[in-house]
Amino acid sequence: IPPIKVKDFAEEVGMQANTLLKDLMGLGIMGNINYSLDEETLELLIDELDLPAKIAAPEEEEDFTCDGSKVKVDFEEDPADYRLRSPIVTVMGHVDHGKTTLLDMIRKTRVTESEAGGITQHIGAYQAISGDQKITFIDTPGHEAFTAMRARGAQLTDIAILVVAADDGIMPQTVEAINHAKAADIPLIVAVNKIDKPNAQPDRVKQELTEHGLVPEEWGGKTICVEISALKGENIDELMEMVLLVAEMEDIKANPNRPAEGVIIEAELDKGRGAVATVLVKNGSLKVGDPILAGSVCGRVKALVDEHGNRIDVAGPAMPVEVLGFNDVPKAGDFVQVLEDEKRAREISEERQEKEHQARIQTESKVTLEDFYDQI
Ligand code: GTP
Ligand code: MG
Repeated sequence: IPPIKVKDFAEEVGMQANTLLKDLMGLGIMGNINYSLDEETLELLIDELDLPAKIAAPEEEEDFTCDGSKVKVDFEEDPADYRLRSPIVTVMGHVDHGKTTLLDMIRKTRVTESEAGGITQHIGAYQAISGDQKITFIDTPGHEAFTAMRARGAQLTDIAILVVAADDGIMPQTVEAINHAKAADIPLIVAVNKIDKPNAQPDRVKQELTEHGLVPEEWGGKTICVEISALKGENIDELMEMVLLVAEMEDIKANPNRPAEGVIIEAELDKGRGAVATVLVKNGSLKVGDPILAGSVCGRVKALVDEHGNRIDVAGPAMPVEVLGFNDVPKAGDFVQVLEDEKRAREISEERQEKEHQARIQTESKVTLEDFYDQI
């Protein structure tokens, strides 16, 4: 089966392209109407949406869904409690263009050297201080295999930094990152990197950017471009200034006095500690003892560990934190929230597990993609 564009597929099955894009997002794929759906994605979509049935009857409203989305929590909050929080900035770009080196330079540590083969294979989250302001950074892998992770990164973020190596120019995953940022409707700052290299051609990068609808400010457009050398630390301060400037315009707020909401960045089973999940708190404060729900996994926060390995009692807005106490390993990308009590968290988690189980059984007895195309 040949790949098909989102808009064409939507037309074919009689859905709104926007609805389809939202469903795709639910699968961890950020696309636009020209996004090309391959066979695997189509298969997923058709299973996930139960498409032939959906066309006939619109889905019923439910208290919650089993894709890890939000449930209503009973609490009161005062709008006056909302205050500015640190921006969450995701660094994206093609493999080897210097994303991790840039974050190393910002944090002045040496993460790249300890990575296997120098290739980032997971999402990392760090807080850095620029002047007196904190910024939360998310590092994403540039390797083509990690599309879903980049999509998640784009969903988590307030601002994207697109790293483009000046000796290499715009490459496939650069374009992909531009599309993720567009689909998630987040502001994008371009860091033209490796300008220390003798064969660097920053102007060529800018020329190529215009071909993707990003016209640099100095050429009369709206796209902020900063020429940097992540390795030598050149113009990093300027880049940080631009990030804070854009953050200020975005007016990013959160309420530290409400129950926490956030996203699972990564999670694994640790031999000694059990399920360990890195959670990025987007709103509210996460505390030791809180009953939590992430997708179909629940638990109670036993311990919180910050990025420096210190145990803490509370993690506030924009803080990445390791959470111990989930009774199973939650899925990266799932929404995390604090519920009223452990009983409700357990009930919802059990119901979601049952739904997932049913969905799996159904999938196994599902029609093939070819059958589906024969029907429409
Ligand atoms: P992935 O995470 O695998 O996508 O790569 P990445 O974008 O994180 O690239 P990384 O930071 O690992 O850098 C790749 C290589 O480029 C390393 O050898 C870096 O030392 C080198 N590099 C990064 N930035 C610069 C720079 O500004 N100048 C020069 N000369 N080399 C750089
Ligand atoms: Mg990297």
